[in-house]
Amino acid sequence: MLELPGLIDPHVHVREPGQTHKEDWDTVTQAALAGGVTTILAMPNTKPPIFDASTLDLALNAAKSKARCDYAQFLGAGPDNADTAAALAPQTAGLKMYLDSTFGELRLDDMTLWMPHFEKFPKDYPIVLHSESRTMAAGILFAAVYDRPIHIAHVSLKEEILLIKAAKERGIKVTCEVCPHHLFLTADSSSLTLGEGRRGEGRREVRPRLAGKEDVEALWQNLDVIDCFATDHAPHTLAEKDSDNPPPGFPGLETLLPLLLIAVDDGRLTIDDVIKRLHTNPRRIFNIPEQPETWIEVDETAEYEIKAADQFTRCGWTPFDGWKVKGKVRKVVLRGQVAFEDGKVLAEQGYGRNVRGLES
Ligand code: NCD
Ligand code: ZN
Repeated sequence: MLELPGLIDPHVHVREPGQTHKEDWDTVTQAALAGGVTTILAMPNTKPPIFDASTLDLALNAAKSKARCDYAQFLGAGPDNADTAAALAPQTAGLKMYLDSTFGELRLDDMTLWMPHFEKFPKDYPIVLHSESRTMAAGILFAAVYDRPIHIAHVSLKEEILLIKAAKERGIKVTCEVCPHHLFLTADSSSLTLGEGRRGEGRREVRPRLAGKEDVEALWQNLDVIDCFATDHAPHTLAEKDSDNPPPGFPGLETLLPLLLIAVDDGRLTIDDVIKRLHTNPRRIFNIPEQPETWIEVDETAEYEIKAADQFTRCGWTPFDGWKVKGKVRKVVLRGQVAFEDGKVLAEQGYGRNVRGLES
């Protein structure tokens, strides 16, 4: 049995408020615990998006009554909330900026709207960028110009990882995360478990898109540049994925560790590499306090097939359905209590704590 610290996933779409038919604070934290994750950082692109005190309250109240593992909530950067965001920073996981995707109230049409956020958001709270390719390069230039740390979400391209490497070598304060689906799947992966025809196409949709073989290889070759692994757990129902207008996103909390353990098994990663990127580094980058008496037990010899039906996520599917993996989370102890054991979630709703420590 392997004993690991409680894992931290800094990139999770909880869907509450507003889209609880996909997921909510209860089901997402069940999925987290089943995956060995004891802390999640929640993204702000809910309905409504989380961008001020009252919407932050909406999310945190739901989390407080329903979460079974620990958490914090990101605030979204909008066109006119830089002062509000800066004032709320201590109550948040950090600031999430969507730099090149249009997203309702979180839309930042041009760089003049980035500037007040970079000027005002406190430097000891993270700014996380959804920024791909050349927009990512612009984000790194902002980090240099404003001399403050940024964290790049879901890096997927060779050009991205190489530029981050070069920026780090020059002392720019940039960290980054990579998702398992960008390490294990390419745009033409036949191993991707999908429906036929239109179904397959919808289920393949994710942002950033699955990349080419050369990109995936570049990520593996530059592991030392990757600070964190993060799921970008983005649940949508199968009916939505198979519709004419399929939303992008994969669930990921329950497949995170078994996928990475494939790479440990074949020698591409060590267990220490995994601990560093799923615990030590995210703790440092996102200022997450230590969880006392917290660990997970993983049976590294257990071989099994990933099955959508076994998952706790409400979305009801996984692109890794049918994959044969080795390594199963047997037990999760969170702050002295057994929170998950042998397939059962034991932590109650409301057991989870806001790691920003504001709840009474
Ligand atoms: C995200 C989601 O579903 O919220 N989807 C995704 O593919 N990562 C939205 C997004 O980040 O574009
Ligand atoms: Zn995301």
